[in-house]
Amino acid sequence: MIITLDGPAGAGKSSTARRLAARLGWCYMDTGAMYRAVALAALNKGVPLTDQEGLATLAGSLPIRFVDGRVELDGIDISTEIRTDRITTATRPVADAPPVRQAMKQLQRNMAQQINVVTEGRDQGSVVFPSAPLKVFLVASPEERARRRHGEQASRPGVGPTVAEILESQTQRDEGDRSRPVGAMRAADDAVVIETDGLTLEQVVEQILELARGRGLTSAAKTPSQDRP
Ligand code: DC
Repeated sequence: MIITLDGPAGAGKSSTARRLAARLGWCYMDTGAMYRAVALAALNKGVPLTDQEGLATLAGSLPIRFVDGRVELDGIDISTEIRTDRITTATRPVADAPPVRQAMKQLQRNMAQQINVVTEGRDQGSVVFPSAPLKVFLVASPEERARRRHGEQASRPGVGPTVAEILESQTQRDEGDRSRPVGAMRAADDAVVIETDGLTLEQVVEQILELARGRGLTSAAKTPSQDRP
C-alpha cells in the first residue's frame, strides 16, 4: 500500500510524511534524501556532475537505507551531511538528469515492493507511483514556507539567512523543480491538494488520515498519544 506526498520545498512534506508513517505504522521513504545521496556519492567518488550516465549508474545501485529516522549510505549516517548547502547545490544537476530519474524510479519502486509506504518527493504521485490509492499534494504560500524555514534555522546556532534571502533561493528552487524536462514537480490529476497555511502539523496529518480511512487504507492508525513517549 502506498500514500504519495508531493509538493514544493518547505510545504511541510517531510514532517507530515514522517508523522503520518508513524501514525500508520508504515515505512517512510524520503526521495529527496535519495537524490541528495546520489550527489554525495558522486562527489565522494569523483563522478562529474555532468556525467549523467555515471550518475545514473551510482543511482541504480545506491546502497541507501532509512533507519530509525536516519539516512545511511553504505552503512554510514549521512543525515546531516546531505542537508548542507554544498550537497543541496550538487543535487540540482543530479535531479535534472533523465537517466538518473529513470534509475531512481526503478529503485523507488523496488524499495516500496511488498511494504506499506508513505513516500515523499516531487514526482511520486505523478510519475513513480501513478496507481497509488491516495496521492496528496501539499502547498503553502511562498511567504509561509520561507517563514517556517527561517524558524527552523533560528533554532540552530549560528547566523543564518534572512526570510527575504530564504524566499529568494526558494523561488529559484521552485522554478527549477517545476521546469525540469523529466520528473517536473506537479500534482497528479487525481491528487488531493492540501493548503497548509495556518494549519498545524497534527491537523494536516489528521486530514490525510481521514482520507486514508475513507479509502479503506487503514483501520488501525494510532491515536496521537499512542506513539509518543
Ligand atoms: O526535498 P528535498 O529538498 O530534499 O529534495 C532535494 C532535491 O531533489 C530538490 O532539488 C528536488 C529534488 N527531488 C526531485 O527532483 N524529485 C523527488 N522525488 C525528490 C526530490
